[in-house]
Amino acid sequence: MHKIRPRRLRLNAMLRDLVQETKVTANDLIYPLFIKEGEDSKEAIKSMPGIYRWGLKTILTEIQSATELGIKAIALFPVIDPSLKTELAEEASNPEGLTQRAIKTIKAKFPELLVISDIALDPYTSHGHDGLIQNGKVINDETVEILAQMAVVQAQAGADIVAPSDMMDGRVGAIRHALDEAGFQDTLIMSYTAKYASCLYGPFRDALEAASLRATESGAAISQVVPADKKTYQMNPANSTEANKELNHDLLESADIVMVKPASWYLDIVKNFKEQSHVPVAAYQVSGEYAMIHAAAAAGYIDLDQAIKESLTSIKRAGADLILTYFAKNYLEI
Ligand code: PBG
Repeated sequence: MHKIRPRRLRLNAMLRDLVQETKVTANDLIYPLFIKEGEDSKEAIKSMPGIYRWGLKTILTEIQSATELGIKAIALFPVIDPSLKTELAEEASNPEGLTQRAIKTIKAKFPELLVISDIALDPYTSHGHDGLIQNGKVINDETVEILAQMAVVQAQAGADIVAPSDMMDGRVGAIRHALDEAGFQDTLIMSYTAKYASCLYGPFRDALEAASLRATESGAAISQVVPADKKTYQMNPANSTEANKELNHDLLESADIVMVKPASWYLDIVKNFKEQSHVPVAAYQVSGEYAMIHAAAAAGYIDLDQAIKESLTSIKRAGADLILTYFAKNYLEI
């Protein structure tokens, strides 16, 4: 009787490379970037070592180095001045707003780079929610109207892909309709299809200097009761079947790319999406995942480079075609 020896395929590095099933490359990665007023600014974000709030000039240098590493797509997140945050988030669809100016500046210098812009109201609301609030509730349809306007304004500025991260019902269809009406048939929609109400967004809200959801202590005065969390629109981390419902709706509403967020604690959802959809699946390794890996590495508990590689490889192995990650440059430099 011969012995079965799976270890034969692990005998040396050459063999291991030869039979490796998953390899993350620059083509898989989307690099999220924070932008802020002030041409020359480069502000560190305490909970996210190596990540900065960039000014509209300094960001060009950062993008240059990213493209030299082979990165083909960036996702922009604006840090909005508190004086511009309002209950009705009017700044969100200002054609001269920070996001729109950033898109124009970046596309002028890097015409081939894919620029993905975020659609949600949280950077613009004085209360920090992703939608408008009425009678203490985040209201859906009125919010969707603004999101559709935002998409058109971003497309006009030159965004290649718009990415609704708000989790309102029906927004993908409304955005598609508005884009088509305005002549932007070729602007893609990457939908945050299954976005969970996760503790892992903590450092991101820090980065955005988002209004605390309990609000009253910050920025503009708020005239009404504000929900203390995002659980009436973002999904319950305990649910998986419900993600399939969101997936079906987004596909019917013609999302071009569907996303799962966060990534690492939700790899089962990534796998379900890959098996059940015929469009590319993206996964977002979010700020908290980034911060946890950095914190453990800084404490000497894990090796940073290996953790970066292993986490991204696992997300791709689970079925992600695209990965949004703050480690995009780091991974390509390892
Ligand atoms: C909000 C938004 C969030 C993130 C992307 N868009 C946070 C939230 O929903 O509160 C999180 C990204 C990250 O944590 O890296 N529209």
